[in-house]
Amino acid sequence: MAYSASLQSGSYSAKAPSQTHSESNTSKKITLEEALEFLNELIHKARDKSLSEPEIIVFKGAWYEQSYEEMSKTSTYKKNYLQRRIAIDLFDLLTKIIGNGEQVCKRNLRACIQSFMSQDLIKGSKLPDVSKFYGRTQELLYLKELVATQQFNCISVVGVAGIGKSFLAAKLITDISKDKKFEFDFFIWKSLAHSPRIEDLITELLEIIEPQIISPNYTQEKITLLLKVLKQKRCFIVLDEFEILYQNPKLNLDYLIFIRRLVEENHQSCIIITNRILLDEFVEFINNNRPLQFLRLEGLDTDSAIKLLTNKGITDLQRCHQLIQTYRGNPSELNDVTNRIQNMFGNTEIFFENPTTLVSKKLENILNKIVGNVLEDIHKQIMIYIAEKAVEGLESITITTILNDFKLNQGISISTLDLVKALENLERMSLIESIKNAVTKEICFTLQPVIKKYVLTDTLGIVHSFNYSKFKIAS
Ligand SMILES: Nc1ncnc2c1ncn2[C@@H]1O[C@H](COP(=O)(O)OP(=O)(O)O)[C@@H](O)[C@H]1O
Ligand SMILES: [Mg+2]
Repeated sequence: MAYSASLQSGSYSAKAPSQTHSESNTSKKITLEEALEFLNELIHKARDKSLSEPEIIVFKGAWYEQSYEEMSKTSTYKKNYLQRRIAIDLFDLLTKIIGNGEQVCKRNLRACIQSFMSQDLIKGSKLPDVSKFYGRTQELLYLKELVATQQFNCISVVGVAGIGKSFLAAKLITDISKDKKFEFDFFIWKSLAHSPRIEDLITELLEIIEPQIISPNYTQEKITLLLKVLKQKRCFIVLDEFEILYQNPKLNLDYLIFIRRLVEENHQSCIIITNRILLDEFVEFINNNRPLQFLRLEGLDTDSAIKLLTNKGITDLQRCHQLIQTYRGNPSELNDVTNRIQNMFGNTEIFFENPTTLVSKKLENILNKIVGNVLEDIHKQIMIYIAEKAVEGLESITITTILNDFKLNQGISISTLDLVKALENLERMSLIESIKNAVTKEICFTLQPVIKKYVLTDTLGIVHSFNYSKFKIAS
């Protein structure tokens, strides 16, 4: 949006008087420049013309509680002209735009604009509080670039539980909502944590974007209407915690149809989806050059993870590195382990004398669900095998070793293709890690310490329980 030249180089030069009552009352400090820029945008939208120079003089004078006499003295305009010709029309317009039912005048202009600007720009559900946000500079830059290209209808942020997908998406929508250059009309955050039916989600989105519109009865018609609206209004929408939908296959299917239409049909909006894994359907979109992109989120960078730990009271750098390595920079696990160290050991040094890997309750619950409902016997067998080898001192294992050992020593008959598929699946779910040997270029598999601990402890006995339905045990 063009910024009127007179805003930056206006002839008005009044000095700001000492802080006024209205300023000291507002928790969020908004500067005159911010208010002026914001208002100019609104006014431009309303009448297709930016603020004029005398209007800016009146606005600034009102902001600093000056009389029209004072405004006139420090400008080239007569008092009567500013008061009768400019101010009356300007305040009428402001009453319509930012008044919220109140008459805007010189006296309350500053309070009105402050309260209008403090209103939440982001609609929908409550997003996480990202006031303590560390790092992710590269990731934010990359996502903002993707959004700015306007080439992608959907962007999926994927990564293991607790790695910071929701936090990153919340920071992204907050930043983008404040940056005019993206030119979105609406910002919406919707958490899918309560598994809403697709028709309810779409009705809610329509109510936010076009409250007066009558939503049709049938789901596909609703989606068609939403797509039409997303074509007319540029919306930035985050659908957080998409993974919740896997627990309900019917919901999952409805949402996949919805996402397919969001990706394949033309509109000018952008939808961010956070999810633990990159769905097969999404891989297919990417392979077919459809307008969907993804970002795989890894742990926090070391400096940011150190900041997080230092703030939690772990100040010894070596200890910090030790924890970052064990928990792969996963901020949620780092938060959890530091809380537990402090609660259980009080003094962190006592913990580090006999360090142990702690699996957070949150991660344990998630792993229980995956192991209980998603994994097949072969996945569990691979994880147990890698964990036991690590105990024997072999931290990473090649696919050939696994294949041979399975056939010769474990009595598990499996084709190379099935083993490759199983390993790929485990890696996609972040249950195993792969490393490439720099010399031989061979891929080795390993378990990160928390997963290894979970597999070996197996408190519910679900990792070590098999139904042998799919894989035959060789005699
Ligand atoms: N960039 C970050 N800076 C600070 N804390 C973070 C960051 N990312 C994640 N966290 C912490 O980790 C927790 C889990 O992050 P979250 O975004 O909910 O993970 P996910 O959505 O991947 O499961 C957050 O509640 C927050 O305490
Ligand atoms: Mg999340």
